[in-house]
Amino acid sequence: MDNNRKTYIIANWKMNFTPGEASLYLNKLANRYQPVRKVQAILAPGMVSLQTLSLQINRRQFKLAAQNCHWQDYGSYTGEVSPTQIRSFVDYVIIGHSERRYVFNETDKIIAQKVAAAIRNGLTPILCIGETELERRDGETKAAIYDQLAAGLSQVSAEDIDKVIIAYEPVWAISSNKGAKPASPLDIEEVQKLIRKHIARRYDAQTAENISILYGGSVNKDTAAGYLSIDGIDGLLIGNASLIADQFCAILEIAKGVKNER
Ligand code: 13P
Repeated sequence: MDNNRKTYIIANWKMNFTPGEASLYLNKLANRYQPVRKVQAILAPGMVSLQTLSLQINRRQFKLAAQNCHWQDYGSYTGEVSPTQIRSFVDYVIIGHSERRYVFNETDKIIAQKVAAAIRNGLTPILCIGETELERRDGETKAAIYDQLAAGLSQVSAEDIDKVIIAYEPVWAISSNKGAKPASPLDIEEVQKLIRKHIARRYDAQTAENISILYGGSVNKDTAAGYLSIDGIDGLLIGNASLIADQFCAILEIAKGVKNER
């Protein structure tokens, strides 16, 4: 099955790099990476680096994503950052990452509100979903995926669903989690089918075909090609391996190659 969907390669730096370090990284990457239309390279630095990088970045080469945002545009929420505050810096925002769900107790309701807030502010939400190790062991992967999708998209209308990207990140495959192991291509292909099935039911078949679905969890330059070749997978959300500019650049080059073969 071929399609016209773009490939998204996203570096999620999580809570790493000062603005100075982030700037040096971008400088290094920008000198090496030649963009192509079909591959969208995205950097997701910490909030404190967004302004610096947004002034430095060539938006035809890279785009920026925030790793989180609040669900209100303004207000009395000490320590929080709203989509309205960051929308001049970024085009994308990661919502519902498992570290937000399980370390910061974000509920499905909060995540739904954040997805809506991103869209309202003209940002593309990258909605992360994925089952835990326990859910997987109990045979509840399908239920977990459907529940997170139903809740996360509950405020997204048929007119807006084309503004959403879905990232499948099984919690047990994220490298920083204890005992993490990479997901198998077969498992990932199954889950992307489930996601498209859910989207087809909730919206329609064309929407399900068009929506971009990314994979994240222990991806590195040696495994990227394999993951990008999985039917229905349109890109990668990379944590640890994206902290090394050379490695991230290598993955971007791999994505260009895989896209050309399709
Ligand atoms: P790793 O690539 O370190 O497993 O992290 C995945 C992730 O959480 C990206 O959002």
